[in-house]
Amino acid sequence: MPDTGEIYVPPGGPPQVTPPSRDIYPAMGEANIFKMLEDVYLLLSQSKIAHMFPEDLIPAAHKSAAFFVGLLGGPPLYQQRYGSPMLRARHLPFPINEADRQEWLRCFDEVLARAVDKYAFPAEHLAGFREFLHVFSGWMVNREMSKE
Ligand code: HEM
Repeated sequence: MPDTGEIYVPPGGPPQVTPPSRDIYPAMGEANIFKMLEDVYLLLSQSKIAHMFPEDLIPAAHKSAAFFVGLLGGPPLYQQRYGSPMLRARHLPFPINEADRQEWLRCFDEVLARAVDKYAFPAEHLAGFREFLHVFSGWMVNREMSKE
């Protein structure tokens, strides 16, 4: 699919979305969140959008994990290590359309399906976290789907 380079801005601007519960981090702990993101990145590296991700997967997974630790109620590791997340801006170098977003969500969802047993993800907060990822990922889309 040729990329015209034209940036797409989702209508409505940054989504108003309920952040995930901050009780998630205390239940899981940092090591489980890092492990969960390693597994998400492993699936991403075998997915239709594998080309977007660096070969050196684990450091990339850990950078994302640092963000999720803070988001889920832990210390603001991402901000401490890398500064302001500005996630839409940080995703702009990667052309992301709706199909790419669906593929990203599929990988995360697959890991979340086993997250209660595997990483002590609190079951009662799973739906809220999925909903957050679903809505917020829409804001990372920066290319319109090709009409062809
Ligand atoms: C719409 C689907 C998405 C795609 C295709 C996508 C893809 C990517 C890619 C290619 C990178 C850079 C490679 C790397 O270093 O990991 C990245 C980085 C990252 N993504 Fe996403 N992403 C998506 C959605 C999200 C969402 C919804 C979040 C947070 C809730 C998120 C959080 C991050 C973080 C924290 C980083 C590291 C940023 C940095 O380089 O400092 N991504 N993502």
